[in-house]
Amino acid sequence: MKKILISGGTGLIGSSLAKLLKSSGYEVAILTRRKGASEYSNFLWNIEDNFIEEEAFKGTQIIIHLAGTNIGKRSWTPEVKQEILQSRTKSAQLIFNYSKNCGKSLETFISASAIGYYGAVTSDKIFSEDEPPAKDFLGSTCKLWEESADKFKELSLRVVKIRTAPVIAKKGGIIDKLLLPIKLGLGSPVGSGRQYMPVIHIDDICNIYKFAVTNDIEGAFNASAPEQLTNREVLRTIAKKLHRPFIFPSVPSFAMKIIFGEMAKIILEGSRVSTTKIVSKGFRFSFDKVDKMLENILHT
Ligand SMILES: NC(=O)c1ccc[n+]([C@@H]2O[C@H](COP(=O)([O-])OP(=O)(O)OC[C@H]3O[C@@H](n4cnc5c(N)ncnc54)[C@H](OP(=O)(O)O)[C@@H]3O)[C@@H](O)[C@H]2O)c1
Repeated sequence: MKKILISGGTGLIGSSLAKLLKSSGYEVAILTRRKGASEYSNFLWNIEDNFIEEEAFKGTQIIIHLAGTNIGKRSWTPEVKQEILQSRTKSAQLIFNYSKNCGKSLETFISASAIGYYGAVTSDKIFSEDEPPAKDFLGSTCKLWEESADKFKELSLRVVKIRTAPVIAKKGGIIDKLLLPIKLGLGSPVGSGRQYMPVIHIDDICNIYKFAVTNDIEGAFNASAPEQLTNREVLRTIAKKLHRPFIFPSVPSFAMKIIFGEMAKIILEGSRVSTTKIVSKGFRFSFDKVDKMLENILHT
């Protein structure tokens, strides 16, 4: 039975992924800042103090690095930006330092990344994995995040980076933010509404991580449902499924900028990403269409 250590395994993706991997026969351990935060073997770490409980690495073959400050909970002040970056890169560096000494059994390092790699931009271009990173905040963050993952190649590990679209789950993540105005009967597009809004179902993102564990794949992979609709189309589909109106004028971009500052860009802009690479490796999506995904999330 292989042992998988998941950093940030208490979060939205990590908690579902841990369950999936456990039920698939893996031994699961979690790196967390809060002892007892999950039902699996918990190991403490402290990034500021350069500390990890060494026992975490004992017999571990695979590390999945999900840890990172949530990007959508606070305004992007310079301090928050620093925390968003360092909670991903400094943490990866700390795992690397310990892996050199205690990780003799390690084979694979799989890291989260985000489709923010390609930048907050609205275009008809469909971004594939060989595109360069954008120069905006998220693009630069993803670049450094992925570089910190690539460092594990120095230890001869197989490295996989999962460029993730916003995850749709029954609870947590972006769904509450999308549902609230619609449930209040205030459904409307945001900004122009023409920006693309790639999303992925929680089961599919967890299955992609499991696919990366079980298949000999390497490098970066986009992780989004193959069908990618505009903001207007996604929100209208939700309103229709909830039998709520979708008649109000768009939420103006300037209002979003006043409320959310620089972070508004990730809501106001968006392009599509190609899923050809992961599909060509043999991965099959359970929720390839947005309608099917929302039906499952809202009505089952
Ligand atoms: N969910 C999405 O829509 C989405 C989209 C694109 C990319 N991703 C990326 O995928 C990864 C997992 O996403 P998620 O939605 O599961 O995230 P999440 O729910 O916010 O959980 C992330 C976990 O990271 C740990 N963490 C938070 N702040 C930290 C800090 N300052 N230092 C160290 N650890 C910290 C926490 O675990 P403890 O409190 O137990 O330490 C937390 O449970 C993240 O890196 C995220 O950026 C997610």
